[in-house]
Amino acid sequence: MQVEQIERLIKISKTKPLLPEVFVPWQEEPTEKDIFLTEKLSSLYGHPLYETLSRQQQVELGRHEVVQVMFSYAWSEGLFCLFMNRYILTLMPDSIEYRFLLRELIEEFRHQDMFTQAILRLNGKPVKPTFMHKFVGVFTARFMPSDAVFLSGLSVEVMADTYGTYLRKDPAVYQVLRKVSELHNIEEARHIIFAKDYLARFVARAGFIRRSWYSYLVLLNIYFMRTLYVKKEIFERIGVADPEKAYRAALKNYEKLFAKECLGDITAVVSEWKGFNWATRWAWRWLLKANV
Ligand SMILES: [Fe+2]
Ligand SMILES: [Fe+2]
Repeated sequence: MQVEQIERLIKISKTKPLLPEVFVPWQEEPTEKDIFLTEKLSSLYGHPLYETLSRQQQVELGRHEVVQVMFSYAWSEGLFCLFMNRYILTLMPDSIEYRFLLRELIEEFRHQDMFTQAILRLNGKPVKPTFMHKFVGVFTARFMPSDAVFLSGLSVEVMADTYGTYLRKDPAVYQVLRKVSELHNIEEARHIIFAKDYLARFVARAGFIRRSWYSYLVLLNIYFMRTLYVKKEIFERIGVADPEKAYRAALKNYEKLFAKECLGDITAVVSEWKGFNWATRWAWRWLLKANV
């Protein structure tokens, strides 16, 4: 572990804290022209059915889907906090890892608060994770070994970062969501550096089997997150003629969009660790339509 680098990250976290209460202009109302999700991340975008929606339905689809995205981050951050609390009990409070993870815990608690505030601001009604999602999530946070959980956390953080970058840079997006994304991008960058550094010690001595296992873990985490975004109930809410048909089309369409727009950063991490091989590549292509 690069001690000076981690000390530097701790210092930035302490001297430049970003409080969502202050950083995000919560009082700003959305304007007539504002959208809530960068259009190309909207599940039906580019599909012929998208053109059959009214402008208002398109905007509403984005609003409901960005709520799903923020809700799933807040939920997985809560799980990761559970894990970090478990993990720091194996360390001593004066160790550098312990001190960094305390900062990360503080920031992740603030993020959850910020995402739920943003959901409230949008009058969002998240479609909740299924029993299976909850079971897998809680099991991972409570019982899996630390390398596996850090890797799961990293996968979600990189995804959140990719989404955040699109939202933050899109001038058409409601200002409150752009600032939420900006804050999250800044702080997650530190968590990502730490998680990669933590995992480097495992990756360095990993053979074929461990590299493949890591690759599958990342893949399953991304797949798992993706299943939280596109929901049939949303198509019922926005009043499309045939919600079932629109939902099916959106699922297929989003697979393609997601592969094209969202997998670049995470596949770069996996390939840096030589995680693509004959045992893993087919699954990435099959489940995520990844170009690997
Ligand atoms: Fe976060
Ligand atoms: Fe994080």
